[in-house]
Amino acid sequence: MNEQDLARALKLHAPRIADARADLDTLYRETWRLSRNEGPDLPWSDWVALSALLLEFRPSLIIELGRGIGSSTSLFQYWSQKVLSARIVSLCRTTDWRDYVVPALEKSVPLDWDSGLDARVGDILDQDYPAILNEADRVLVLWDAHGLEIAGAVIDRLLPTLEGRDNIVVAHDMRDARYFPNPETHVQWLHAGDMFSTFAQIGPIAAYCAARDAPPPPPPAMRCIAAPWRKPARSEATESATGISSPPRTPQTAPPAPARRADRSARRGARAARRSHRAGRRVHRNRTAPSARRSRPPA
Ligand SMILES: C[S@@+](CC[C@H](N)C(=O)[O-])C[C@H]1O[C@@H](n2cnc3c(N)ncnc32)[C@H](O)[C@@H]1O
Repeated sequence: MNEQDLARALKLHAPRIADARADLDTLYRETWRLSRNEGPDLPWSDWVALSALLLEFRPSLIIELGRGIGSSTSLFQYWSQKVLSARIVSLCRTTDWRDYVVPALEKSVPLDWDSGLDARVGDILDQDYPAILNEADRVLVLWDAHGLEIAGAVIDRLLPTLEGRDNIVVAHDMRDARYFPNPETHVQWLHAGDMFSTFAQIGPIAAYCAARDAPPPPPPAMRCIAAPWRKPARSEATESATGISSPPRTPQTAPPAPARRADRSARRGARAARRSHRAGRRVHRNRTAPSARRSRPPA
């Protein structure tokens, strides 16, 4: 699936996504609120793009690599319960989802938040992927945990199990230079062909895609989708194409989540990064650069 296919899917499924707009909006805002307003891991434009992708591809299995606060998890569970009946295996070492995200979502969007969703707490590096895949024939993977070690596990252990099955691997946090020609200059971007990112896995991803795209080998097991995020012009383009506008700004209230020491320290780091970001200086996150996702939603 390339960007034209995604655009077609957006147009085709816009009415259904628009019908779900109120629920999606609530989930988007709620997961943002639970992230202590540090910014959504999955911006609104990604919610729309991923919704279209799910409705078009109709996976029987969704594998989520990196759950965190669970924005993507809630989106997957929503569409799975409403339309897809997909099995979801969500992998993360954090426990936020079960500790306080699900209890909060249960109050805001009535849905079966357990059924079909295996939200595992564990290391992505340690998983038995053939067992997870089992007999699934249509698999969508959201790859949203970062670094070279995880890239090794994905490429060497997960992707081989996808061969022979219909599959899409969505590599989050990759931008497409053809649509984002002027990246923020204060961020230390890594480039690989048309892709650029702040995350190190861009290297192995680019190499994998390049190797698989060379004819005559079989169709690639991986499709890289640079999901649109951050840049207002892009979001506006999504809105005009689909008629689905961004939700209003999320309320700036702190959630009642337990504040652990690591959380407090991470939040202090994020606040410092935002201050530095506003000052136009280079800031670092994960040893490279701040996540471009920590932006305010489009107004
Ligand atoms: C960017 S967040 C995921 C955000 C999520 N997709 C969403 O939409 O809210 C990445 C998550 O991956 C987790 N993670 C990173 N490395 C991991 C590993 N080796 N095993 C399990 N989880 C890992 C982090 O703890 C973090 O919660």
